[in-house]
Amino acid sequence: MKKHLFLFVALLAVCLSTEAQSSGFTKLDEWTQTWKEAQLTYFGYPVNEYSALADFYQWYVSSGMDAVNLNNAGDPMTDDPWNMSSQAFEREVIEFFTPLYGFERDNVWGIVTHSGTDGNNHGIYFGAKYLFNKTGKMPIVYVSDEAHYSNMRICDLQNLDVKLIKSDEMGRMIPEELDKALDHTRPVLMVYAMGSTFRGAIDDMDALNAVLDKYPELTVFRHVDAALFGGYLPFTEYKEMVSSRKMRFDAIAISGHKFFGIDSPCGLFLCTRETYDNQNNFNVTYLNGNMRMINCSRDAVQPLKFWWLIQTVGYDQWSEQANRMLENTAYLKQQLEAIGWPCWANEYSNTVFFKRPSKAIVRKYNLAQGYDERFGGELAHIVVMQHVTKEKIDVFIRALQQE
Ligand SMILES: Cc1ncc(COP(=O)(O)O)c(C=O)c1O
Repeated sequence: MKKHLFLFVALLAVCLSTEAQSSGFTKLDEWTQTWKEAQLTYFGYPVNEYSALADFYQWYVSSGMDAVNLNNAGDPMTDDPWNMSSQAFEREVIEFFTPLYGFERDNVWGIVTHSGTDGNNHGIYFGAKYLFNKTGKMPIVYVSDEAHYSNMRICDLQNLDVKLIKSDEMGRMIPEELDKALDHTRPVLMVYAMGSTFRGAIDDMDALNAVLDKYPELTVFRHVDAALFGGYLPFTEYKEMVSSRKMRFDAIAISGHKFFGIDSPCGLFLCTRETYDNQNNFNVTYLNGNMRMINCSRDAVQPLKFWWLIQTVGYDQWSEQANRMLENTAYLKQQLEAIGWPCWANEYSNTVFFKRPSKAIVRKYNLAQGYDERFGGELAHIVVMQHVTKEKIDVFIRALQQE
C-alpha cells in the first residue's frame, strides 16, 4: 500500500513539473501558448530553438543568484576581475573560443557582447582606431552590398566613409570590384561577410586578400562578421575558414543566440592583442582600469550561460550538431529539387533559398523573404538550425506539394 502511495505521489510530481505552469496573467499565458506553437515551425531565422539552459535556470534560482545584481563593466581579460562581476567566467569563455577562431593564447583579447551587432560595432570601431593610430588617417570601409545591414548602420553611426562592393549573384563580394574600388591614399578597413543573412554567402577571403596583397603600401585591418556561421563552422571540417591565423583577420564577431542557442541576444568578440593595444585608452579611475570596450555596463548573466553551455554541451555535441545541420541542409535542398521547386544554397551554408511559397506557408513557417529578379523574383529562405529536423522538413515538403 505504502509502495503504491509513493508511486502515485511520484507520478503526480512528474505530471505537475512537465505541465506548463500558469503565470497567473491571462495575456502572458496566451502568448506563451502562441510562442510554443510557433516554435515548432520556426524555420526562417537563424536561432537554435533547442535551448539547453533548463538546468542553468534551476541553479540560478535555487542558488539565490536571481537576487544578486552583477555587472561586467570593465575588462574581463585582466588578472584581477571585479568580484561583483562574472568576468572570471567571461574570460574562460573567450579562452575556450580562442583556438577555435585561430587566435594565439598570448595574442588575443575579447568579450562576451550584447549581440552580433555589438561585436560588429567593436570590430569596426577598433579597426578604424587601429588604422588611424598606425597611419594618422581615417580608413575607408569596404563591405559587400550583400552584407548584413548592421555593418552599414554602424559605419553611418561612426561617421566612416564606406564603399559598397558589388557581390555576385550568390552574394559573395567580387574581388575585381574590390580591386577597382580601392582608394590607394587611405587605409583599408575590410568587413568580410561570413554568411550573408539571406543567401548565406561567404566572402572568399583568400581571393580578396590576394587583391589586397598586390598593394603592400596599403595598411589593412580585417573584421569578419560571422554572426551565424562563426557559431558552427569551427566544429566542422571547414574550421580553417574561421581561423584568424589562416584567413589573416584581426577581429571577429559571432552571435551567441544563434548556433549556441542562448535564449536571448548576446555574442562573442575576439581580436588580436595588437588591435587592443592600438585603441584609445580611457582610464576610468572609479572602474579601476582602462575602458576600451564601447559599453560601460555589460551583462554578467550571458557569460555565465555561455560558460555553462561549454561545460554541459561542449565541443563534441556542438560538432555533432553542426555536422547534422549541414547534412539536413543538403537533405532540404535535395527534397526541394525532387519536387521540382527552384532552390539554391551556397557552399558551407545552412541556408537554402527558394521560390517563395504561398502566404499561408510563409506565415506558418516564419519564412524570411527576399526578392531577386535573377532568381525569378520572389524568394524565401530556411535556415537549417538544430531544431529543423528531417522529419519537419518532410512535413514542410508535403505542404509545398499540396500547393
Ligand atoms: C550576417 C549577420 N550579421 C549580423 C547580424 C546581427 O546579429 P545580431 O542579431 O546578433 O545583432 C545578423 C543577424 O541575423 C547576421 O545575419
